[in-house]
Amino acid sequence: MAVLDVVHYGDPILSRVCGPVVDFSNLHAIVNDMFDSMYEAEGIGLAANQVGFDMNLFIIDITHTEEIEETYIFVNSTIIDTNGSEELFQEGCLSLPGIALDVLRPEKVKLRYQTVDGQWCENEFDGLLARAIQHEMDHLNGLFIVDRVGEVERIKYQAELKALEKGSKDRIAAGSKKKGFVL
Ligand code: CO
Repeated sequence: MAVLDVVHYGDPILSRVCGPVVDFSNLHAIVNDMFDSMYEAEGIGLAANQVGFDMNLFIIDITHTEEIEETYIFVNSTIIDTNGSEELFQEGCLSLPGIALDVLRPEKVKLRYQTVDGQWCENEFDGLLARAIQHEMDHLNGLFIVDRVGEVERIKYQAELKALEKGSKDRIAAGSKKKGFVL
């Protein structure tokens, strides 16, 4: 088991579009570490770039909040369609500690993706799962929940965002190259 540090707002890996997963051979190990890290941080979803991997990969576990028994791993995903009405729902983010914002998103999402074994799939998701998928897909495209709200909402958190940015800069300057194993 390896718990990796979740990087915060201000880290450049969170502000660019992640590259595709090409080599599936060590993906299981990376995914296992991602689950360990997500559970340690008490999140319900985690994108690979949040723990320092530049990969189109994310995981979701909402088994404790909904009547869904499986956990999800999505590789090389693309949103091909959204459906239903736009709904407001409060979202937090492991990379934006202390910030929670009401984000407007469509209630259904159609996703094309690969499984951890490389099989291509296409499925429509709704409810909290659709919400979490869209949040994680935003991460893989370099976007945060603060980019999904109006300027008035964003300004409320200006001080927190500045502090997070400074923290990320200091962390990088300190030369944290090991992605911070804490085990
Ligand atoms: Co997030």
